[in-house]
Amino acid sequence: MAVKYHLETFGCQMNKYDSERIESILTQSGMERAADPSQADVILLNTCSIRDKAEQKLFSRIGRLALNRKKNKNIIIALGGCMATLRKKEIFKRAPVVDIIFGPDALKRLPELIEKQRSDKGAKGRLLDVEFGDNGFGDGPEPGARQSKISAWVGIAKGCNNHCSYCVVPNTRGREVSRPPDFIIAEVKELASAGYREIILLGQNVNSYGKGLQPKTDFSAFLRLVDKVEGIERIRFMTSHPKDLTDRLIEVMASAKKVCPAIHLPVQAGSDRILRIMNRGYTSSDYIEKVNRLKKTVHGITISTDVMVGFPTETEADFQDTLKVMKEVGFDSIYLFNYSKRPGTRAAERGEEIPPEISSDRFNRALSLHREIISKKNQNLVGTVVDVLCEGAYNDRREAGGDGSLNVGWAGRTPGNHMVFFRSERDCAGGIVRLVVTGVAGYNLRGRIEDKG
Ligand code: 5AD
Ligand code: SF4
Repeated sequence: MAVKYHLETFGCQMNKYDSERIESILTQSGMERAADPSQADVILLNTCSIRDKAEQKLFSRIGRLALNRKKNKNIIIALGGCMATLRKKEIFKRAPVVDIIFGPDALKRLPELIEKQRSDKGAKGRLLDVEFGDNGFGDGPEPGARQSKISAWVGIAKGCNNHCSYCVVPNTRGREVSRPPDFIIAEVKELASAGYREIILLGQNVNSYGKGLQPKTDFSAFLRLVDKVEGIERIRFMTSHPKDLTDRLIEVMASAKKVCPAIHLPVQAGSDRILRIMNRGYTSSDYIEKVNRLKKTVHGITISTDVMVGFPTETEADFQDTLKVMKEVGFDSIYLFNYSKRPGTRAAERGEEIPPEISSDRFNRALSLHREIISKKNQNLVGTVVDVLCEGAYNDRREAGGDGSLNVGWAGRTPGNHMVFFRSERDCAGGIVRLVVTGVAGYNLRGRIEDKG
């Protein structure tokens, strides 16, 4: 009988993408997905380490999953992802139920590790495979057990060469390595023939893509290649580091047919002093200047960002600078974070943390400002016509005509990445549908199919 696995994913897009690769590697080796954890022979957790809370949650989740051992003592528990790499020793100590710890470059070896652990189970050796090795990608198109049939993530680089003083990623995912363009293009072509309409290129810092590759290339040149692949309608990418955003890239965004006018450009903070001790490599006016160039050159561009509040030594005046940048840019979407002290980072060594109640107060004020900005911006979109790539059906009671009954409709995204809900009698999944925006639904929009009359 096939070995059954259960996989849970925590954290960012990169982890979700890795999980798709894990699933495909496991199923290709003959394993099957279990209906639920209690049916599994192997339980895998793909972990996140970006904030302390994520780690605390993980230990309690491991504890719960370990209860399945009472029924089946042969269950294997494997931990991958950032926290597994970073805290391997502590995990083995604090969570003796964990059998395997695997790093981001060990995905291909997972079937082997699992098999070894299954046959050694009596001896109870624990396995660790967290060395950074090759680039973690295969020599060719990457298999992916993809969640969506419409939009596909494609990894183009892994790791990060920056040293933002708060961030564990350089320790958990290693140095930046770019995947050769030929492999990626082959994969995008395969995805196009499999019917995918949208590609999201993924890397910790896509803007520095190409460093170390022969022949030499860069992200803007590479984006032009992806733009030529027939059959793909939309291309997105994330994450862009502001310091590496070039004029050439802005021009490609403006002229390439399929590249969406949307960019995720984490600003983190508005105070130049804080940006300096974060080691971000730009000032707030550098950032604003690039944003203005993007707005001027790329028609209708939307800008999303990450903002961190409560960084060590942040004063009220520093925080006001962050609010100022938020007002000036008018972000279309924000991932807002409270600073979290991470072991092994320069910010953690520095100390000088600010009290949590001050940090959460700033968090709430930044959130209210963002809500205000978004509500105005979204209101301005009412009445406009948008082309939405329909991602599938959704069920939402709030969308029903006020009577609370369940209503089935469709959801899709505009080129600028706004989610729009709409109704249609026909199956819209995977199609591009022209809509008139009729209203605002929280951070999202509502629309109706445009009358052609
Ligand atoms: N504390 C809080 N937020 C963090 N991020 C990264 N490290 C930390 C940390 N130690 C946020 C940054 C980054 C996003 C992915 O996570 O804003 O852009
Ligand atoms: Fe972390 Fe900075 Fe690299 Fe982003 S760019 S992964 S925040 S070190």
